[in-house]
Amino acid sequence: MSDPAIGRLHPLPAADALTDGDLTALYDDPRRAPWVRVNFVSSLDGAATVQGLSAGLGGDADHRVFDLLRRLCDVVVVGAGTVRAEGYGAMRVDRAAQRAREGAGLAAHPVFAIVSAHLELDPGSAVFTDAPVRPLVVTTEAAPRRQREALAAVADVLVCGVDRVDPAAMVAALADRGLARIHCEGGPHLFADLIAAGVVDELCLTVSPLLVAGTASRIAAGATPDVPLELELAHVLNADGTLLLRYVRP
Ligand SMILES: NC(=O)c1ccc[n+]([C@@H]2O[C@H](COP(=O)([O-])OP(=O)(O)OC[C@H]3O[C@@H](n4cnc5c(N)ncnc54)[C@H](OP(=O)(O)O)[C@@H]3O)[C@@H](O)[C@H]2O)c1
Repeated sequence: MSDPAIGRLHPLPAADALTDGDLTALYDDPRRAPWVRVNFVSSLDGAATVQGLSAGLGGDADHRVFDLLRRLCDVVVVGAGTVRAEGYGAMRVDRAAQRAREGAGLAAHPVFAIVSAHLELDPGSAVFTDAPVRPLVVTTEAAPRRQREALAAVADVLVCGVDRVDPAAMVAALADRGLARIHCEGGPHLFADLIAAGVVDELCLTVSPLLVAGTASRIAAGATPDVPLELELAHVLNADGTLLLRYVRP
């Protein structure tokens, strides 16, 4: 299947469809270390899911950028709710992505870091058994001891907080391990915690031309920051009515 055409609207509209190299140049722009990027897809009316999953929102262009962003990070961080809902498997990128990552001086595969307080994660699942790199489980002091020990057999367990994972402590712990390019794929409760902790450096948001209504979650739900976090627009891409927005912390 050929790549879905993606054009640039801002800055300066580009006449030609963007190549993978163009897209990489637009997104490969960490301005500090550590750098926390978050990626979401939303409907026009703000829904983060259709029938409980994000799959009904993202089209080919969203998938293209979703895959590209996995090429540009050291670690992919995901909340346990999303891992369970979306049925995540191992964090394994394809051969082309491995080559691109290695060419850029990164490990062949990103590390998979799962954030969970309750540790209702199956150590026998493909997330762990099929992992090309030992995953991380980021949890709390209060996490159930038995589950923690079981997961420690298949993952490195990082304790970053008492009852909930403290995002600032998590970012510091990841950076200490050399994982400074941090890419978060959600979900909404983890994102709200990252916002409230003031650690978000970038949001990549795909806006799909759909109206979903209903009671679906927004892309951030739960914790509230003292003051809303302000980001500035880095680019707007258009793929047949789907907008690919990139906002960064000034
Ligand atoms: N539109 C999109 O781009 C997008 C992206 C991602 C997900 N989603 C959707 O979002 C839905 C899931 O929403 P969600 O809010 O439940 O997702 P979530 O934030 O991934 O999961 C929440 C769970 O993650 C863990 N967690 C998150 N922050 C934590 C913290 N600071 N400390 C400790 N544990 C923390 C907890 O797991 P434990 O319960 O194990 O303690 C918590 O119950 C799914 O329907 C998914 O499809 C949509």
